[in-house]
Amino acid sequence: MSSRSGVRLRAVASGDVPTLDDWDRDPEHTGEWGDFGLPPRSHADLLSRDGAERGYGFLVVEVDGCIAGSVSWHAVPYGPNPQSRAWNVGISLHPPFRGRGAGSRAQRLLADMLFATTDACRVEASTDVRNLPEQRALEKAGFTREGVLRGAQFRRGRWHDLVSYARLRHDP
Ligand SMILES: CC(C)(COP(=O)(O)OP(=O)(O)OC[C@H]1O[C@@H](n2cnc3c(N)ncnc32)[C@H](O)[C@@H]1OP(=O)(O)O)[C@@H](O)C(=O)NCCC(=O)NCCS
Repeated sequence: MSSRSGVRLRAVASGDVPTLDDWDRDPEHTGEWGDFGLPPRSHADLLSRDGAERGYGFLVVEVDGCIAGSVSWHAVPYGPNPQSRAWNVGISLHPPFRGRGAGSRAQRLLADMLFATTDACRVEASTDVRNLPEQRALEKAGFTREGVLRGAQFRRGRWHDLVSYARLRHDP
């Protein structure tokens, strides 16, 4: 679909499902930031979902031809009219693929793709105030830090503050 220095985003294929399901059950993969206490799910249902106006999406991140993780997005309404819809994006790389620049490249590609294929003005992301690698990766992907969302996320028995980032369509 789209690539940047060996990093590519592509649709989920049936052959990816066992890998993605295994990663969801792997505490090393899920880590502190992805531990929401939810039951493991099957990614097989992603194969049958389609449509530009669906309000969410999921793509595989490939690094040099290997499945390395995934990105996802969902619509966030900031007003009742369709023009006020922003996209909130998320990412998870498998541990061996972290810390090599793939996260920032994949998130830049995803924002580029959402601006190219929809009329949204805003692509946003938020992450735990202690998740410094994701904060740095977002900055490298062209996102601007906007502020702290206090007590926004419940994980591991308590509420956590998130840092909010966004990239606007006409940001440099
Ligand atoms: C967060 C994640 C997507 C980042 O992707 P990545 O490929 O590892 O990140 P990159 O290599 O593009 O960039 C990471 C940057 O953070 C920096 N970094 C890493 N650890 C750091 C730390 N403890 N303190 C400060 N900076 C740190 C790196 O040096 C790098 O910056 P640099 O290129 O200027 O040196 C990836 O690590 C991941 O999937 N982590 C687990 C899931 C997760 O946290 N998802 C986001 C949840 S909202």
